[in-house]
Amino acid sequence: MVKRVPFIAGNWKMNKLTGEAQAFAREFKALTREFAGVDIAICAPFTCLTVLRDELQGGPILLGAQNMFYEQSGAYTGEISPAMILDAGCAAVIIGHSERREIIGETDETVARKTRLALEAGLRPIVCVGETLAVREEKRAVPHVRAQVEKALAGLGPDDLSRVTVAYEPIWAIGTGRTATAADAQEICALVRGTIAGLAGAAAAEKTRVLYGGSVKADNIAELLGTGDIDGALVGGASLNAADFAELIRRALVAV
Ligand code: PGA
Repeated sequence: MVKRVPFIAGNWKMNKLTGEAQAFAREFKALTREFAGVDIAICAPFTCLTVLRDELQGGPILLGAQNMFYEQSGAYTGEISPAMILDAGCAAVIIGHSERREIIGETDETVARKTRLALEAGLRPIVCVGETLAVREEKRAVPHVRAQVEKALAGLGPDDLSRVTVAYEPIWAIGTGRTATAADAQEICALVRGTIAGLAGAAAAEKTRVLYGGSVKADNIAELLGTGDIDGALVGGASLNAADFAELIRRALVAV
C-alpha cells in the first residue's frame, strides 16, 4: 500500500486584511516549526498572497489561492490567471469550491477547464466536490460525487493525477458545525479514490490525496484521519486562528 503524506490545507475564504495575514503567518510559522511528515497549505484571498509569500518564503508552508480563471490572459475583466497566482507565490489553488459552485455559478465544465490549466501552469489543484443536503437525503450522494469527479478529472493521466488533490466537502457540513461521521466521510472518500482508479488506474488512485472538509476541528481530525482513505483536511473556520490551526495539525500528526 502506498503511504500518502497527509495534507492539511486552510481555506480562509473572504477573511483577513494584509496586516492580519502577516501577523498570522509570523505566529503560525513559529508554532509549526517542529512539524514534520505533513504538507501544510494556506489558501488565502488574492490580496493577501504577496504578503504571505514574503513571510513564508523558504519555509515548508505552501501558499494557495482560492480560485483562478480558465484562460491564461486577455480581456477577462476582474479575473486572475494561473500565471498571476504563481507570480504571487502560490503552489496550489482551490478549484470548484461549493461556495463558488452554489453562489458564483461555477460549473463542472469550468472546474474541468481550470483543473487542466492549473496543472499546465505547474500548480497543484485542490478540486472540491460534494453534495447538498437535498441530494444526500434523496440518497444520491454517491452518483452525484462520482459524476463530479469524473467530469473534473476525465482525461488526466497518472502524472497529472499525482499532483491533484480532491477535497470531499459535503455542503451541509460546511460552516455548520455538523461534520459528516467519519464513516460517512470515509465512504465517499473511498468512492472518490475508486472513481479515480476507474479513470486512470489503481496505481494513480493510490497516489492521489483525498481530503475531507466541512467543520473539521482539532477535536475531530484524528477520527477522520484514522479511516483509511482520508489523507487530510480542507479547513475553513478552524484555519483562521494560528494557534487553533496549529493545534489541529499537531493532532493530525499524532493520528497518522
Ligand atoms: P469549514 O469550511 O471548515 O468552516 O466548515 C470548510 C470549507 O468550506 O473548505
